[in-house]
Amino acid sequence: MQSVEHVHLLERLSVHERSFQQQSNELSSLAAEQLGRVITVSGSQVTVQFTSVSPDGDIDVTVGSLVGVRNSESLAIGTLSDIALERIQTDDSGTSAVGRIDLLGEIVSEKSGARHFQNGIRAYPKIGNAIVRIRDEDLNIIYGFSHPHSVKIGVLQQNAAVAATVNVDEMVRKHFAIVGSTGSGKSTGTALVLRKAMEVRPDLRVLLIDAHNEYSECFEDRAVLLGPDSLKLPFWLFNFDEIVQIIFGTRGRADVETALLAELIPLAKTEYAGTRQTLRSSNSKITGQSDAGRFTVDTPAPYLFENVIALAENRMGKLENGDLAISYQRLLMRINAARKNPRYGFIFDDGAEPSDTMIDVLCEVLRVKDDERPMAIVQLAAFPSETMEVIVSALFRMAFEFGLWSNALSPLLIVCEEAHNYANADRSIGFGPAREGLSRIAKEGRKYGVFLGLVTQRPHLLDPTLVSQCSTVFAMRLGHEDDQKIVRAAVSDAAGRLLAFLPSLGTREALVIGAGVPTVTRLRFDELPPDFIPRSHAVWGRDLDAVEKIDDQLIGSIVGRWRGAASASKPLVTSPPLAEPKPEAGEMMLWTAPSYRE
Ligand SMILES: Nc1ncnc2c1ncn2[C@@H]1O[C@H](COP(=O)(O)OP(=O)(O)OP(=O)(O)O)[C@@H](O)[C@H]1O
Ligand SMILES: [Mg+2]
Repeated sequence: MQSVEHVHLLERLSVHERSFQQQSNELSSLAAEQLGRVITVSGSQVTVQFTSVSPDGDIDVTVGSLVGVRNSESLAIGTLSDIALERIQTDDSGTSAVGRIDLLGEIVSEKSGARHFQNGIRAYPKIGNAIVRIRDEDLNIIYGFSHPHSVKIGVLQQNAAVAATVNVDEMVRKHFAIVGSTGSGKSTGTALVLRKAMEVRPDLRVLLIDAHNEYSECFEDRAVLLGPDSLKLPFWLFNFDEIVQIIFGTRGRADVETALLAELIPLAKTEYAGTRQTLRSSNSKITGQSDAGRFTVDTPAPYLFENVIALAENRMGKLENGDLAISYQRLLMRINAARKNPRYGFIFDDGAEPSDTMIDVLCEVLRVKDDERPMAIVQLAAFPSETMEVIVSALFRMAFEFGLWSNALSPLLIVCEEAHNYANADRSIGFGPAREGLSRIAKEGRKYGVFLGLVTQRPHLLDPTLVSQCSTVFAMRLGHEDDQKIVRAAVSDAAGRLLAFLPSLGTREALVIGAGVPTVTRLRFDELPPDFIPRSHAVWGRDLDAVEKIDDQLIGSIVGRWRGAASASKPLVTSPPLAEPKPEAGEMMLWTAPSYRE
């Protein structure tokens, strides 16, 4: 029979044995993980010597791999930026590899035993520290769901078993950009990110400027589509620069005529306010003040062009024939030509009884009241090309002003495809007010709950001040050196060296840098189901059979639409053939028309 002491002794021995076994297992697993050791340390870079080169020269980490540097206080995390075989004499195989690691952050243990990842390095590696492979559990600590509004948008390129997440609040609140060459997956990535963002932030409102009409199917019934038939932007909502652009275009502008228009518009607004009971009541409802004399040329208050014309005629009648009378005549001709242009129907066609529709327009475009459909997609390609910049300018302005005057009522994200079209790096290109609108949102928007998501395939053509305002950058495949430079300028040195991968990224792959991600993340976006992939319906949405029906009549209808005799937004194949286009008082006839009156 065993004595009690004997039993206790055996138990104690077995505990020691188990803990020894455990320790030796851990040690052997550490040894198995260990890839090499640190040989130099310089700032955020360390040089390492790899020891686990197999006899045939293979090593299973390569450039881009995440590796760890274990020291007594933490596990420093870095990316291997280069690796080369070095022929030196070692005990066994005689070969070794050296590589450089850019350190990004470290996993530290708290007193409670919990471990978390933090950006930047506090405990620098020392010579001789072990280089280890990063385990899945460490990857999950680094890239996991760090915030209630973190969403999974893909998987790590390094390990498809680990989710790649983005913190929607951080991403939206500090603006973001998605850049990449054509076909790299920007639009699909944008659709994916926006779907996830709207899921996790139901209060977010999104205004998507869809430059190529690609997104109509991407958000199911969560979005409204706005084209020339559905988006009514009455002329009085445009500010003076915008209305001048519509009436005079870029070429026909003359200082005297624009000055005359600037005098007449406030008078017409006052006149309208004075005569329309409807406006008086709705305005006093809104402001509680009387209207007369309150209008500037930029105030978004209704007026009638009939009144502008009558005022101009009245003044003209009092003039001797002279330069000023000719200027009035020219102004009236311009106004008349713009109003009669059928392509501008969505601006000038205000129905039988014009009214103050500003509240309706704001609700339609900014979706403030609609929880079911929090997104508006402006199908820009359906609008006449010469009005696109003006529309975008007005929308940027409306969004900003609404945020300002409502004191950030609800967070509003403006996503702009082909952003370089509205804020080109070359300041002489494009419509100034659109650029100003975009820059104003980039600089001050976050104070008023108005945020930007910029999408472009040519970041070097985008105003660099805008790129630098975007705190999260999704950099997809970028071949052009100038484009890479722009992204590099926006990130730290360590992250910058990772950008060497940009030309070789695959479709759907992105390097995500900045506030929205825990650390630089090389990810592969989740696959979006084919039905939700952005695509141009002008090209892909058409029935192939329709191609056979192309005949002179169809081409005639295209020409008719081109000339503006029908709505540009109608689907190409289903629209009925048009009658012979009637001559309209357009630009060509402007200076020969005998009268500006119908
Ligand atoms: N996340 C994804 N899921 C599924 N397919 C994708 C994904 N990303 C890209 N693709 C595929 O790649 C194609 C090109 O992607 P996308 O249109 O988004 O590229 P892009 O960068 O916007 O190109 P462009 O500059 O020409 O607009 C898509 O039509 C789709 O077939
Ligand atoms: Mg695209």
